[in-house]
Amino acid sequence: MLVGPITRRLADRAFTFTPLEPIRVKGKTAPLVVFKLVGLRASPEIATVRLRSPLVGRAAELAALVEGLDAVARGEGRIALVTGDAGLGKSRLVAEAKRARSEAPVYALEGRALSIAQGISYGPFIEIAKRDASIAEDEPETASWEKFERRIGTLFGHEADGVLPFLASLVGLPLHGAPAERIRYLDAHAMGQQIFATMRRYVARLAAERPVVLIFEDWHWADESSAALLEHLLPLVETERLGICVASRPDHGEGAVARLRERARRDHAARLIEVRLTPLAGADSEQLARNLLSTSRIPSDVDAVVVEKAEGNPFFVEEVIRMLLDLGAIVFDKQRGEWRTTDALDRITIPDTVQGLLVAHIDRLEDDVKGVLKLASVIGRAFLYRLLSALAAEAEALDVALAELRHLDLIRERTRTPELEYVFKHALIHDAAYESILLQRRRELHALAGEAIERLFAARLEEFYGVLAYH
Ligand SMILES: Nc1ncnc2c1ncn2[C@@H]1O[C@H](COP(=O)(O)OP(=O)(O)OP(=O)(O)O)[C@@H](O)[C@H]1O
Ligand SMILES: [Mg+2]
Repeated sequence: MLVGPITRRLADRAFTFTPLEPIRVKGKTAPLVVFKLVGLRASPEIATVRLRSPLVGRAAELAALVEGLDAVARGEGRIALVTGDAGLGKSRLVAEAKRARSEAPVYALEGRALSIAQGISYGPFIEIAKRDASIAEDEPETASWEKFERRIGTLFGHEADGVLPFLASLVGLPLHGAPAERIRYLDAHAMGQQIFATMRRYVARLAAERPVVLIFEDWHWADESSAALLEHLLPLVETERLGICVASRPDHGEGAVARLRERARRDHAARLIEVRLTPLAGADSEQLARNLLSTSRIPSDVDAVVVEKAEGNPFFVEEVIRMLLDLGAIVFDKQRGEWRTTDALDRITIPDTVQGLLVAHIDRLEDDVKGVLKLASVIGRAFLYRLLSALAAEAEALDVALAELRHLDLIRERTRTPELEYVFKHALIHDAAYESILLQRRRELHALAGEAIERLFAARLEEFYGVLAYH
């Protein structure tokens, strides 16, 4: 079997190849560099590069969320607040609850507050409304309009004309003609009021169609307007078959989450589900480590390191294990069929913070792969391929690096159509990559990103004002 350089690089972990003489192919001017597959690498570590574990512990927390989903499916409103420190498993828990009821007739829509998008008003609601209308992240204007009009038409029937201008300007679809006239003389305050009122009707319509759960992720980063809008929507849980699920790091008594909690406790206590994630118990952390290494037995010194360092934080457990693997402190002993520690265990220093671990993790990447990760981090937690490639030096190297980053589970594809977009798998990875860029270099890259946006999206710049301000 013959493969090209990209495939070779991607399959390199599992197979061995030898280079052959370049060959000429019809339709290509340059000769192609090809490799012949010669064999399979027999190394069990391969399987563990992508660390995954079934959910460990969290039975009560999961049950609480699943009960909430069941209530919504029955037609009762619920508010679920899932709080806990970074990496404790909030997003995972919400995903597990959804999965546990994947057959339920509940329509789930997710909006995410992105750290970089703090300046973008209503960011998470824009995401929800666009997803609901099946509008992809970077869909051209006419196609977006068509989809949006159709969806709002379905929800509102003959009342659609009245709400369309406000919903459209919320999601950033430029208005023309009669709808534009309608809102032309509204000042910012009146516009804000209309958007609030219209969103409330919109969510009520969604819930009238079928039970719906709106998931708000990373609410500690919510912009002011989104935080206020969500508070405005809370009373709907009293009358509609609506679930509002908010995942957030704790914000210590001030800010969007604290306000939301206060209001929910005061006005909707009977419908409120509060899930506060605390660190995993020691035994659960050990179980998690065993799951990640796909084994039932782990050397006791590794157990000790995991329990002591990770302090019950699942994300931290993953990173500790990854570091031990990457640095060869634990290896799979083929003869004995189990993991054993090496001398390296005593030599390496495991950082005391998740951030420190992640910086070390990024540091261990190959230079070109690392470079792409950092570059992407300047664009944001989510980044369009087109924008990244405008900033990257070399297209083929970029593709290889992106494939590698996906393989390592550092980034994921967010959408493919009509345009490829990736997202950092975890906000903490994004932060660490971003923080690892020198300040001066960061400024230069922001300037380049801003220029690239202006060049690539010249026709629809108003949609990017928030992002541009960030750069
Ligand atoms: N109970 C668990 N069992 C197994 N794996 C878990 C568990 N909880 C979390 N994880 C894993 O730990 C990692 C971090 O979890 P997650 O992303 O859900 O954290 P988070 O609380 O949402 O963090 P953030 O505040 O940064 O958004 C993920 O890879 C997740 O799959
Ligand atoms: Mg999360």
